[in-house]
Amino acid sequence: MSHRRNSLRRAHITGWGMAVPERVLTNGDLATMVDTTDDWIRQRTGIGERRIVGEGETTFTLALQAARSALEVAYLDPASLDLIIVASVTPDYAFPATACLLQDALGAPKAAAFDLSAGCSGFIYALSIAANLLGAGTYDNALVVGAETLSRITDWTDRSTCVLFGDGAGAVVLQAGQAPGGVLASVLGSDGSGGELLILPAGGSAQPATVQTVTSRQHFIRMEGQQVFRFASRIMPEAARQVLQRAGRTVDEVALFIPHQANDRILQAAARGLGVPEERLFSNLARYGNTSAASIPIALCEAIEQGLIKRDDLICCVGFGAGLTWGAAAIQWSVPLPAAVPRRRMRVWRWLRYRLTQLRSRWRRLWRRLDAWLSGFLHRRNGP
Ligand code: UT7
Repeated sequence: MSHRRNSLRRAHITGWGMAVPERVLTNGDLATMVDTTDDWIRQRTGIGERRIVGEGETTFTLALQAARSALEVAYLDPASLDLIIVASVTPDYAFPATACLLQDALGAPKAAAFDLSAGCSGFIYALSIAANLLGAGTYDNALVVGAETLSRITDWTDRSTCVLFGDGAGAVVLQAGQAPGGVLASVLGSDGSGGELLILPAGGSAQPATVQTVTSRQHFIRMEGQQVFRFASRIMPEAARQVLQRAGRTVDEVALFIPHQANDRILQAAARGLGVPEERLFSNLARYGNTSAASIPIALCEAIEQGLIKRDDLICCVGFGAGLTWGAAAIQWSVPLPAAVPRRRMRVWRWLRYRLTQLRSRWRRLWRRLDAWLSGFLHRRNGP
């Protein structure tokens, strides 16, 4: 870890990528599973369909896909990464961190890696931490990922929650630089008194897994929808205004708001609270539903793809979620768009590099086993 303190250092988003599973679950499909209708879901949430992981897909596999795309756009070798943060409430394991699985699969030998749990605000939390570490001169290159497989903790018999969630991942590469713009400011907040409003009751130290926790469906998301709705409608405009004030900017200067995608009615309330037309708030809820920590980076990628962001534009990401938590980030887009398409040679090189990384990882695992076997053998032969 090096320390290059410089007040002019800023964190710039130089790469972005997303991944969603192929399998689509429509409102019509859900209507065959629980007592609901396409009309109800569309009218109350704006969701039309969502993506659901299949066998062999996990939070890590989605995160890896998104991360590789982001690194490709940034033209950054994974070996240059100093930091990897994965924001998720559905990591592959409680430990090791999904970020460590990524570190290994990408081949990022000098990167610190950890997971971050801040519900649907997780991506903003991770972005803010990484941007501050880059700005302070601690690191030069960071990978920030929001990735979820909420379908694995969704109660598919509970119509009040199962219609809302989907799976996916989004990632950004942040690089320190002296150019103006980048992540201008962020605000993060929490109110733990609302923790029970959105909770995964069992599986932690409070309620370890037992037959009883499984049969009483405690390993699935529980939510007080209306209360979360009221909190979200209030906090979204509040957090957005706060971060813009901190950045010395105004609501009118924002080209596009990238809000957490939970419910179109929450986005409408946020637009009213901010006094801006709804079109200034990006929404892809209809296609993906709520993907928690992945929703903002996925929305960012799609906004870029649709040409809604230009160089020098001011954008404002804002989210809320379990905890309760909230966060917002003001970003001045500082790299040219559209991004250059990587050349074929580059793609082939990357493919080879990832294969090599995989082989190196297998070798390290094998070596560790050999080493353990050899130590055991010598111990038995020579005595303690
Ligand atoms: O990322 C953060 C996570 N969560 C959120 O952001 C969610 C925030 N909350 C919401 O988006 C909304 O509160 C929901 C979409 C969850 C629910 O919408 P609502 O307008 O608040 O509905 P409600 O809970 O007040 O329920 C109204 C009625 C109820 O029936 P009765 O009691 O009026 O007869 C529910 O039983 O709608 C019923 N209902 C449904 N009906 C058909 C609840 N879910 C469904 C459903 N299909 N899927």
